[in-house]
Amino acid sequence: MHTAIKGVILAGGLGTRLFPLTKATNKHLLPVGREPMLYHLIRQMRLADIDDILVVTSTDHMGDVVRCLGSGEDFGCSLSYKVQEKPRGIAHALALAESFSAGQPICVILGDNIFEYSIAPYVAHFRQQGVGARVLLKDVGDPERYGVAALDEHQVIEIEEKPTKPKSSLAVVGLYLYDATVFDIIRGIAPSARGEYEITSVNNAYIARDQLRYDVCRGRWTDAGTFDSLAEANRILGETQNRILNQD
Ligand code: TTP
Repeated sequence: MHTAIKGVILAGGLGTRLFPLTKATNKHLLPVGREPMLYHLIRQMRLADIDDILVVTSTDHMGDVVRCLGSGEDFGCSLSYKVQEKPRGIAHALALAESFSAGQPICVILGDNIFEYSIAPYVAHFRQQGVGARVLLKDVGDPERYGVAALDEHQVIEIEEKPTKPKSSLAVVGLYLYDATVFDIIRGIAPSARGEYEITSVNNAYIARDQLRYDVCRGRWTDAGTFDSLAEANRILGETQNRILNQD
């Protein structure tokens, strides 16, 4: 028996960069390959043996999201739902998962992230790690769009959110593994200059405790939050007909 890890999919936000596609439809219900985007996240979690999953979304789209995903029976898992009333940031959305997590470690995925390969090995590494946090890094051509990791020869030493002069080309992608102390950390962070509770502040708090570890993402990865990246997400999952590649 391995440690039970609970899943959290964050699917709030406004999706303004995809207007008008997201005027009536939640970004995470848009088609990617042959399926709605959220199917990919649930399939990824199932491959990592996560079967108890919370989906956080906005008030406006909760009805559609529940209609699309249901109880989880079709995916062989249990789905719960929570409303984020205002898009106050990723860490704010995550705070809503505290009672759901019930003291268990959690695997958090941003609802618009698409991975060519299974995330199962990264989750397995976190099960072995036991305490702290684990992030996933990817070498990208446009790091200024993301949280960017600076590394020494062993560890991540700093993450900068959307830097104008990135110190590396390693983006922190939207998959985060946390122990149960994450909720205390969120309570201690302040909103950023753009008024959001940033996940980068949470990850930097784990760095300060020397408890943040990382993996490097294999294969193609993209968010699907812009027209170009949504097209890339469609290419990745279109080619495999939504099949997720195994890492062994
Ligand atoms: P973003 O892409 O940063 O924000 P967004 O989805 O609102 O899009 P836009 O900038 O175009 O308006 O968010 C990344 C993911 O994080 C997104 O897929 C949903 C999730 N998210 C929340 O769940 N709650 C939030 O308050 C925010 C800001 C994001």
